[in-house]
Amino acid sequence: MRQLLYISSSHPRGAAADIAAILGQSQRNNCAAGVTGLLWTDGVRFLQVLEGEADAVAATYARIAADPRHTAIVVLADRTVAAREFGDWSMARRGPGDTADGFDARMQAALGAASPAVRGTFMGLIAARRAA
Ligand SMILES: Cc1cc2nc3c(=O)[nH]c(=O)nc-3n(C[C@H](O)[C@H](O)[C@H](O)COP(=O)(O)O)c2cc1C
Repeated sequence: MRQLLYISSSHPRGAAADIAAILGQSQRNNCAAGVTGLLWTDGVRFLQVLEGEADAVAATYARIAADPRHTAIVVLADRTVAAREFGDWSMARRGPGDTADGFDARMQAALGAASPAVRGTFMGLIAARRAA
């Protein structure tokens, strides 16, 4: 099973990405391709982990990497995992009604089975964006 983690920035800079459209496409395609993972965004940055059969992850990532809605895509990790760390496909965005603690708790739950490195990358970025 391949697991790929990347970070990117929404494009054009400062434009709020159409998160609902991305989520709809992702849910439909990832479910069909057996790709699971997590996409976190604050509307400016994206951090996404994708996992599944190597071919399915490669095809999904190739589409994502060519998407003009984001730029400066950097792969942070690309590795083989024995078993899925994300049971399904999900997306996390802190909404106006979320408290910081409530959102953290949701993220911790979504990252419950993730490796320390993956969990640390998500929580580190979230903390950094909150402080920004
Ligand atoms: C930050 C970001 C994350 C995305 N994540 C996924 C994803 O996990 N799966 C997916 O199929 N498409 C994802 N997309 C959308 C793809 O880039 C592409 O537009 C889409 O797969 C095309 O699918 P369609 O031909 O079925 O509309 C993402 C796009 C962005 C900007």
